[in-house]
Amino acid sequence: MNLKQILDWRYSTKSFDPNKKISDADFEQIKNLLQMSPSSTNLQPWHFIVAQTHEGKQRVAKGTAGFFHFNEAKVMNASAAVVFCAKTDLNDDYMQLLLEQEAKDGRFPNPDVKKGMYNTRNLFANIHKYDLKDLQHWLEKQVYLNIGNFLLGVASLGIDAVPMEGLDMKAIDEEFGLREKGFTAITVVSLGYRTEADFNDPNKTPKSRFPQEEIITVI
Ligand SMILES: Cc1cc2nc3c(=O)[nH]c(=O)nc-3n(C[C@H](O)[C@H](O)[C@H](O)COP(=O)(O)O)c2cc1C
Repeated sequence: MNLKQILDWRYSTKSFDPNKKISDADFEQIKNLLQMSPSSTNLQPWHFIVAQTHEGKQRVAKGTAGFFHFNEAKVMNASAAVVFCAKTDLNDDYMQLLLEQEAKDGRFPNPDVKKGMYNTRNLFANIHKYDLKDLQHWLEKQVYLNIGNFLLGVASLGIDAVPMEGLDMKAIDEEFGLREKGFTAITVVSLGYRTEADFNDPNKTPKSRFPQEEIITVI
């Protein structure tokens, strides 16, 4: 599929075939997608819980109790459900950990470049922490960028997906002890394969977007 075909093919899948499973080879690519997303100053302020087993999905589905019941089957019938978690804060231990990873990966030709990276990253983090006072929001934005990358990436593998904010994130945080670990759940993306009965398949319910002339200004 070329890009246009992938964009037309993907949609928010509302009905997953519970009998179709994602292959191990595709899971390796899915993990690459999660890992390789860009983020501001390469902050990578995220963690992902990939629930593949029935028990794992049941744990994620604790976020679909009550009002969020409409999303339960999208978790339980999917082949996997990925919980996207954002860091809730930054501290110097994390900044050092990140810097050492970059050093190990060969990003710094000399100590000055390393120090410069540390300073620049802290400069941006402090703008968000102190000037704009939106540090957590900024961290979450990086996770949303990963989600966007992820949705297109899995579609390119022929895997259906639905992103879900309609979940009790507090229940998911509690189930996985996320807050104690410095994280909070942002969105769950279920993955798998559409059923023929899915009303939201674009062949039955066309996708709707504003025309390009209205949303894009070419100068
Ligand atoms: C951040 C986000 C949260 C969403 N939450 C839900 C949800 O809880 N349940 C659901 O069925 N669809 C959810 N959607 C799907 C959107 O309704 C869908 O992406 C939008 O209508 C565009 O349609 P398309 O994805 O089929 O192109 C969500 C989408 C995004 C990007």
